[in-house]
Amino acid sequence: MAETISFARGAPSPDLIPVEAIRTATARALEDDWQTALSYGVGIGHPGLCERIAQTHGIPAGGVMVTNGSLEGGAMVFRHLVSPGTRVAVEQPSYDRTLLLLEQLGAEFVPIPLESDGLDVDALERALEAGPIELVHVIPNFHNPAGCTLSEEKRRRLVELSAEHGFTIFEDDPYREVYFGDPPPPTMLSIDEADRVIHSSSYSKTVSPGIRAGYLAGPEATIAQLAKTANENYISPNMLSGSLVLQLYESGAYEENLGEVRERLAERRDALVEALGSHLPDARFEVPGGGYFLWADLGEGADTVALSERSKEAGAPFIPGTDFMLDGGWNLLRFSFASVPPDLIDEGVGRIASVA
Ligand SMILES: Cc1ncc(COP(=O)(O)O)c(C=O)c1O
Repeated sequence: MAETISFARGAPSPDLIPVEAIRTATARALEDDWQTALSYGVGIGHPGLCERIAQTHGIPAGGVMVTNGSLEGGAMVFRHLVSPGTRVAVEQPSYDRTLLLLEQLGAEFVPIPLESDGLDVDALERALEAGPIELVHVIPNFHNPAGCTLSEEKRRRLVELSAEHGFTIFEDDPYREVYFGDPPPPTMLSIDEADRVIHSSSYSKTVSPGIRAGYLAGPEATIAQLAKTANENYISPNMLSGSLVLQLYESGAYEENLGEVRERLAERRDALVEALGSHLPDARFEVPGGGYFLWADLGEGADTVALSERSKEAGAPFIPGTDFMLDGGWNLLRFSFASVPPDLIDEGVGRIASVA
């Protein structure tokens, strides 16, 4: 059997990882910053990196903490705000791990549909009329799995609503910098004036997932509480990866790699769109302007769960839509184009089409 071509994981194929830049940055971290990089830190993680991130967002350094990837940041925020019965609005579809974490905490889900320009804010307003909502989880840019980006108008409206109704917006934003054309609209963190937004991001998509580095940015008092919890649980996040990310920023290698990542992911996105046109011409989808994912609709009556089993056997796995939905999603599927080098994309989609 030929090598598996997997559209399943939201992870970069190894050739997208800037191993040489990471090697150089790690050597520099161990040369110039070894005492910080190799010691225990406190809950906020590497202080130099926190400052750097704070500058990027134009907020005080006390509003930032480094985490071991953004999933951990999200999990901490959820544990902080959610207990059994807490009403939490989630996008439909949404990142499967988010749904799982919230379910484990006993959240009461308030499902809100996605449109081509992100969360259906009118539907959220209707849901708010039905009862108070504590937390709204939003993936604003190049959504996982839907690929869409929240419009600026909706960002402003959501931030207004959060101040009016007193809910927290969790802005789960690991794909912000991975744009192929124009950069996305401003973060909700930058629009918020009522301390209602907690922003989360990651270096998994811009450096490497294995370094497990991400961060939370938000109101200083909330970050201080979360950093205390972090310190009680694991003392500090990985200080060496914090140090190497800072070195990447300082040397310019971070920005240089971003250019490379954008270009190469755009090439994969284009190859996938072309392959879908030739092998699955009835599939409907919006072309994502960045990120890792394309969300396809195979039409009424399709069963992507059964198809995913057959595609796996045919050597081209993907994740069916049902994994990202609280209900339904049988006709939908998620392609990760980050995980497949461009020259294999046509063959991979061909394998899926051959068992569709
Ligand atoms: C929306 C979203 N949030 C969080 C994560 C977690 O990323 P990490 O923990 O690697 O930063 C992902 C990863 O795919 C994601 O798509």
